[in-house]
Amino acid sequence: MSIDINTPPILRFGAGSVDSIGELLASSGAARPIVVTDRFLVSTGVAARVAESLAASGMEAAVYDGTIPDPTTDSLESGLAAIREHGADSIVALGGGSPIDTAKALSVLAVRGGHMRELKAPFQFMGPALPVIAVPTTAGTGSEVTQFTIITDSANNEKMLCAGPGYLPKAAVVDYELTLSMPPRLTADTGIDALTHAIEAYVSRKANPVSDVYALAAISRIGRYLRRAYRDGDDREAREEMMTAATLAGMAFSNASVALVHGMSRPLGGHFQIAHGMANAMLFAEITAFSAGHAVERYATCARTLGVASADDDDQAAADALVAELRALAHELEVPTPASRGIEQALWEERVPVMAQQALASGSPNNNPRVPTAEQVEQLYRAIYA
Ligand SMILES: [Fe+2]
Repeated sequence: MSIDINTPPILRFGAGSVDSIGELLASSGAARPIVVTDRFLVSTGVAARVAESLAASGMEAAVYDGTIPDPTTDSLESGLAAIREHGADSIVALGGGSPIDTAKALSVLAVRGGHMRELKAPFQFMGPALPVIAVPTTAGTGSEVTQFTIITDSANNEKMLCAGPGYLPKAAVVDYELTLSMPPRLTADTGIDALTHAIEAYVSRKANPVSDVYALAAISRIGRYLRRAYRDGDDREAREEMMTAATLAGMAFSNASVALVHGMSRPLGGHFQIAHGMANAMLFAEITAFSAGHAVERYATCARTLGVASADDDDQAAADALVAELRALAHELEVPTPASRGIEQALWEERVPVMAQQALASGSPNNNPRVPTAEQVEQLYRAIYA
């Protein structure tokens, strides 16, 4: 069996690296970039800072700030219009997962035309697309380095996974200073998302020696620094390590896939507008308990790398400790349940079958160490309700 490892050709890390985007993009021959971002990053001045860097390198830059959380197929229309109006030859994707995923979808549609529904996984999109430089402002999604974008189909609320090397950014600029202002809730949700990426990549049936290295490097950092970053947002060391961890975790799952947690968390976003990282956090412990017996060595290594089990613990004890840690983390980071978030039980029950069907259709559960039946997926949704 052969293994493909796909990452952006350029990864630039470090404080202040956001100011070198103009130089980086100009060296690729781009002349008319468009910054795809959201209104929040315009209001904080970060978008203007990027636009200044582009202008200083002699480029004619536009800013499109109409991206929305959990982007939908309908929401892509105005972005496409902005790209056409500017005659953009490249995209700077600036923000958390939603602006970056939006930018990646736009980069494809601008060249290919058509509808994202045609590109839903398991279809693999190989390109071409407009070149994208991705600049994350949260430490979590890893979208800056992945060959995926997640777009909700406006027709049926399905969160579609769209995959293939055609979505890979040409460069990622990873500047942890952009995360210093993240509030604790966002720090927690995005940090747990990164941990989910790393652990799911490590236990995935598609794990390989290269993705393993990225995954374990991410898990170890998240074990040491997530709580610190949550408690004190000004802890620069914790912020820098979490940012590095998130990008490493992105490279891990981009090359090994995510598994059942992500398969089941996407419908929570599509049906109940639960933020992606929080949706993962709601499911993570329960699904790990469900899966651990089918890859106990792998989960045990995750536990030891995370720092919640030692070399002296046998694998079963270590895997149990991982489940306990995921429950403790959800509690400490104040992750709600669907019930405590105000979702009515009747509505939850009504949506469980369709969420289970959408989770399985995404293909992600097939990468899980224990591949669930539709009935087991439904049971897991019921188990996390209260
Ligand atoms: Fe994720």
